[in-house]
Amino acid sequence: METIRFGLIGLGLMGREFASAAARWTHLPDLEVRPEIVALCSRNLNSLEWFRNTCPAVKQVTRDYREMLANPEVDAIYCAVPHDQHRRMYCETVEAGKHLFGEKPFGIDMKTNREINRVIEKHPDVLVRCSSQFPFTPAAQYLCAMIEEGRLGEIIEVEAGFLHSSDLNPEKPINWKRSIATNGEYGCMGDLGMHVCHIPFRAGWVPLDVRAILSNIIPTRPDSQGKQVPCETWDNATLLCRTRDDVTGSTFPMTLKMQRIAPGESNTWYLTVLGTRSSVRISTRNINVVHVLEYDGRKQNWETIDIGHAPAFKSITGAIFEFGFSDAILQMWGAYLYELQQGKPLSRFAGCVTPAEVAASHRLFTAALQSQKDATTVGIPPQQD
Ligand SMILES: NC(=O)c1ccc[n+]([C@@H]2O[C@H](COP(=O)([O-])OP(=O)(O)OC[C@H]3O[C@@H](n4cnc5c(N)ncnc54)[C@H](O)[C@@H]3O)[C@@H](O)[C@H]2O)c1
Repeated sequence: METIRFGLIGLGLMGREFASAAARWTHLPDLEVRPEIVALCSRNLNSLEWFRNTCPAVKQVTRDYREMLANPEVDAIYCAVPHDQHRRMYCETVEAGKHLFGEKPFGIDMKTNREINRVIEKHPDVLVRCSSQFPFTPAAQYLCAMIEEGRLGEIIEVEAGFLHSSDLNPEKPINWKRSIATNGEYGCMGDLGMHVCHIPFRAGWVPLDVRAILSNIIPTRPDSQGKQVPCETWDNATLLCRTRDDVTGSTFPMTLKMQRIAPGESNTWYLTVLGTRSSVRISTRNINVVHVLEYDGRKQNWETIDIGHAPAFKSITGAIFEFGFSDAILQMWGAYLYELQQGKPLSRFAGCVTPAEVAASHRLFTAALQSQKDATTVGIPPQQD
């Protein structure tokens, strides 16, 4: 069993998810590599006791990430911090020769994402991947297998989205995710967009242009003292993209929705693909189910398939049991560690988001901002310049 020694920067919501996944690594019995968290860094150390209890191998605790990057006992970094911190931390991590698993959007805007990518290009020995866990649900893996096997035929239309209702309450106090300075001008696209784009981009569905409608539904929120302050970020985004299928060369409409104010939706990530031979739809609202319609020239019946626990990386959990959010996080980490050890992903769709895919998301979101501003359809450049 190979051990990769991790430093964790950011001890918030996502930092805890990784620490918990690392603590139950025995769930993935076939992997011959495991993470060990040996160093912790956060501006605020409020949750330190929980991390110390969860990560018994920790030897270094610091408020200064540069001290962690200078630590020769650290092989890899997971960085889960606000978006305005991504550029300097990601660039310096890669320059220090540490492998990096970073959180989206990988830079607060396209300019900083380009800077990060330039540093990555100069360090090809370092594995850099971006977090996006939902494609590791067994239902999503089933849908991906249908794409891989060419079972869909020509794509007619795609709709993908990630819907929250976490901001429906106007009294919810403002935090860094609702300020342009710390979250970025993309607003909800920077937060939710990579999750929505991961499978479409991996499938080779390339958005050529976009007409975006962005909404700032709640323009002020209380601060920690209860005073109303501007809440400037986009709450909801709907992107209609003319999209090319790289496999067949045909184009089709693809609608991508990222919403923080979607009444009735707690944390719904979904994908529907309509094809001339088969159609398929999945949603985390019913996480263990795949709906498939295979058109045989006669009947058009939607079949409901109960997938159970059939993830990409074998788990000790019995095949009949339900899969959940933290299982998807564990699988995503399995995929990163597997690729780090083996030099390639287990399969095309069991691999984490690459820097090139993140760059494609920045081109899309930047074009979407322009589309909203001008109320027009905006072309999306095929490459980062
Ligand atoms: N993959 C997912 O499903 C998912 C979900 C939520 C958030 N995220 C992403 O994770 C990242 C972090 O979000 P979060 O929800 O965990 O945030 P959070 O606010 O819960 O935690 C952020 C942490 O970063 C620390 N921090 C901030 N500035 C720092 C600095 N200069 N040096 C050291 N530590 C610093 C804070 O002290 C805090 O512990 C963001 O990029 C966000 O987009 C991903």
